[in-house]
Amino acid sequence: MNMRIRFILWLAKTQKDDVMWKSGVPRLAVRMVALVFLCLPGIAWAGMVGSAHDFSASGWSGGEICVACHTPHNSDTTIAEAPLWNHELTNATFTVYNSPTMDVLPQQPRGPTKLCLSCHDGTIAIDSFGGTTGATFISGVANLGNDLSDDHPVSVEWIHQTVDTSPFCANCHFGPPRELVFFRPGGSGPIWIECATCHDVHDAANIPKLLRRTMAGSELCKTCHEK
Ligand code: HEC
Ligand code: HEC
Ligand code: HEC
Ligand code: HEC
Ligand code: HEC
Repeated sequence: MNMRIRFILWLAKTQKDDVMWKSGVPRLAVRMVALVFLCLPGIAWAGMVGSAHDFSASGWSGGEICVACHTPHNSDTTIAEAPLWNHELTNATFTVYNSPTMDVLPQQPRGPTKLCLSCHDGTIAIDSFGGTTGATFISGVANLGNDLSDDHPVSVEWIHQTVDTSPFCANCHFGPPRELVFFRPGGSGPIWIECATCHDVHDAANIPKLLRRTMAGSELCKTCHEK
């Protein structure tokens, strides 16, 4: 069950991760081969079950996992880049990160980031979804609030600003696929860094803090920053 969901999630990925697949090998073929291996018994499969976003043990979820965020029908289409969205959206105005050494300043949280902040800014209840208003709010360090000036920039354009020498190109453009996901609506125009560039809300890789790459040796950071 869980494995099937992960495979569907993976197949459903569209152009936002195309950069990871520039090797010339047809993507579907690679995925089909991988599926065969993943179906072999005994291979561990990470995923949402038991992750911080598995709400199935909370009474208000009706024992489901996806429902707090997605619905197959009557989803919220008022926000761009929202996949079959079911959760109430934040209306907050945010203070964004700013510093004199930035090449380009972040925008107000765009679609994909706003989805996260609809729980993580602490203004909308976790259990406000499917048209019902809940009462369970996020707390502690997971509550980022409306002031993002103390957080890594998000909804910021990737203009290759930190890339000044060649080794970096390979981090994303050649060789084995890297795990980070960039957002480029429609497949052209600006490339955006969002919360989900660093985090996988579905916890596919089973890395602590739902990260897409390990923080061992600050590998995640070094994908983008030559330091
Ligand atoms: C805590 C909220 C949350 C839960 C729970 C959740 N998702 Fe998502 N999902 C998101 C967000 C946010 C995005 C868009 C950002 C992204 O693609 O990373 C997304 C994107 C998707 C996408 C399209 C992009 C992709 O990654 O393939 C699919 C398909 C999807 N979710 C399926 C599911 C299924 C199936 C479940 C339940 C097993 C689930 N999600 C549970 C928040 C959630
Ligand atoms: C997906 C690429 C990406 C990843 C991963 C990433 N960053 Fe960034 N980071 C950026 C971009 C783009 C900016 C904005 C830089 C600019 O416009 O000058 C930025 C800005 C910053 C800044 C502020 C720079 C300034 O001039 O004020 C710091 C500090 C920073 N990142 C540290 C980190 C650390 C630490 C990590 C790992 C936890 C990390 N970054 C991971 C892309 C990334
Ligand atoms: C439906 C509400 C909801 C949405 C939407 C949501 N989260 Fe969460 N998230 C939670 C809750 C609840 C927790 C657990 C908080 C706690 O442990 O106090 C959590 C925890 C996390 C954690 C910490 C994980 C850990 O293991 O400590 C990260 C990282 C995170 N979320 C990132 C995201 C990102 C990125 C998005 C959007 C792509 C997102 N979340 C969307 C509710 C949500
Ligand atoms: C952190 C990841 C990352 C690194 C490192 C990186 N790129 Fe990119 N690059 C991207 C993404 C994402 C795109 C847009 C998606 C696509 O075109 O498939 C892109 C697109 C491009 C494009 C097409 C221009 C456009 O806007 O579509 C060129 C050219 C390019 N990169 C050159 C480079 C070069 C040269 C380097 C090394 C100096 C480099 N990149 C390093 C992520 C990266
Ligand atoms: C540049 C990469 C990057 C981006 C973008 C990013 N995060 Fe994180 N986030 C991290 C890392 C790395 C950690 C783990 C830090 C640690 O363990 O000290 C983390 C931790 C968290 C945690 C857990 C806090 C804790 O201390 O346990 C939450 C919740 C979270 N992020 C939510 C978000 C949300 C929501 C967004 C978008 C508004 C976002 N993140 C954007 C890299 C990122």
